[in-house]
Amino acid sequence: MAKLCVNIDHVATVRQARRITEPDPVAAAVLAELAGAAGITCHLREDRRHIQDDDVVRLKQSVRTRLNLEMAPVDEMLAIAEAVRPHMVMFVPERRQEITTEGGLDVAGQFERIREATQRMKAAGLLVSHFVDPDPKQVDAVIACGADYLELHTGAYANAPNESARLAELEKLIQAARYAQEKGIRVNAGHGLNLRNVLPVAAIAGIHELHIGHSIVSHAVLVGFERAVREMVEAIARAENLARVYTPQEILRLHSA
Ligand code: PXP
Repeated sequence: MAKLCVNIDHVATVRQARRITEPDPVAAAVLAELAGAAGITCHLREDRRHIQDDDVVRLKQSVRTRLNLEMAPVDEMLAIAEAVRPHMVMFVPERRQEITTEGGLDVAGQFERIREATQRMKAAGLLVSHFVDPDPKQVDAVIACGADYLELHTGAYANAPNESARLAELEKLIQAARYAQEKGIRVNAGHGLNLRNVLPVAAIAGIHELHIGHSIVSHAVLVGFERAVREMVEAIARAENLARVYTPQEILRLHSA
């Protein structure tokens, strides 16, 4: 079954609105773990708009499952990862003006730079993941860099304007996941997933981890953190049961009926 890694960035977003000490993303991480999360993810952005350096250090001290550090593959962040030693570093593209990570990393287009950054992290003994669009060219480049995981960007699926477009995006995710696994790399997925759209993605064969943040934190504001995480863990388990009988495409159709 796919495991849930909870991204707690937006707990820090609320805190930074006042630049005080609460709510604490470390407390949210503890609650997420108690509710069944298999890992905690945070993104240290170059502009420090939500997670701060000290949060990453405190998360490393308190997380009992796995800490994944999302970051741009730039010198400053590579040095922080070497010092803090998260379980896994997740390379993402970063643009200062964007509201969230908008597209996958162009690993094929910046191959040497990303390969070097990947090898530097591997030499430090860290697992490495690259966040890419579901495109075979990117899958090949991630593998050639020596990364351990690739994370398929589910944003186009999540934001599809209608059911036929969503189905087409789901197909791309299924094909890319299959292609990557045939080539021997492990596959995660994430971005824009919520309780309504997660089932077909969680039903894709062989997906290791789902990285979900915004919808869980949004739901948690209304129903509490533990309940929000638990409901997502349960949805992923439901997807696994459905996948015994239905394809991901059929699950999508069932849910939009
Ligand atoms: N995976 C990656 C690589 C991301 O950059 C993000 C957003 O920080 C997520 C997953 C989670 O996306 P969302 O917050 O939309 O669930």
